[in-house]
Amino acid sequence: MADPGPRSLLYEGIMLPALVHSTESVRYAQLGFQVRDRDVFSVTYPKSGTTWMQELLTLIHSDGDPQLARSVPSWERVPWLEQTTAAGFLEKRPCPRLISSHLPCGLFPTSFHGSNAQVIYTVRNPKDVCVSLYYYSKMASFLEFQEDFGEFVELFSAGKVLFGSWFQHVKGWLGLRDRLNFLLLTYEEMHQDLRGSVERICQFLGKPLDARALDGVVENASFQAMKQNKMCNYSLVPENIMDQRISPFLRKGVPGDWKGHFTVAQNQAFDRLYREQMQDVGVRFPWDE
Ligand code: A3P
Repeated sequence: MADPGPRSLLYEGIMLPALVHSTESVRYAQLGFQVRDRDVFSVTYPKSGTTWMQELLTLIHSDGDPQLARSVPSWERVPWLEQTTAAGFLEKRPCPRLISSHLPCGLFPTSFHGSNAQVIYTVRNPKDVCVSLYYYSKMASFLEFQEDFGEFVELFSAGKVLFGSWFQHVKGWLGLRDRLNFLLLTYEEMHQDLRGSVERICQFLGKPLDARALDGVVENASFQAMKQNKMCNYSLVPENIMDQRISPFLRKGVPGDWKGHFTVAQNQAFDRLYREQMQDVGVRFPWDE
């Protein structure tokens, strides 16, 4: 593993942003945090639709009413398990607790295994994740940034980025997909059919919504609505930490943006790696031809 650089820390070989993580906070998540049966985890590799799922879960639990989503920051509504702010804060949350995490499966709380807690794992085309992460690293001063996109693709391919390898993350979590309490969603299906995806989430959570509440969720979790909502568009974060003039946090919000970024050669090399890494996974994603 390369030197993680001054802005990052390495935890069991996984690179994490040091601004909001510490060895103690991740160890607490892994070993100290007590999972409860009614906990609902939204797990993602970075840039795969985390903020979107935070908004959806808030709105579903509010029966489509945007009041909470518009008045409390997303990171307080669906807080992060592994961040330095989690210890103490999560214990005081009422059940069912809605919790976000980027942790790879192997670093997830040991108390999760054997519990009935639910996990929604959202996956996105890794090429779009790579592009999104590139722009995010550019605008977020607390992350390492590699200006040359080709070199960034190499780092991403080698897993030398935040939260390690996309392949290891996805394959690790897919290993749990036969669990009763596991829902696999893709960013692409949410984009293509948000209402249908919300219905799937509601069914999984055992929280049916009537048509009006569903309308409320879909309307308030649209890209445009979220871009306007300062409680989830990260405009509350000071410019010296996230400079949205360089690139907005809610940037494009579409599948396929990689096509305007990867060269033919970069695309071929990535496809080769993808085939090698994913050949035995046994899941077909919307971006697999
Ligand atoms: P882009 O950079 O491709 O635009 P995360 O929340 O995991 O950090 O992911 C951020 C990505 O999700 C960004 O992708 C962002 O625009 C996209 N996103 C967030 N909310 C969205 C929504 N309602 N519809 C579509 N994309 C959304």
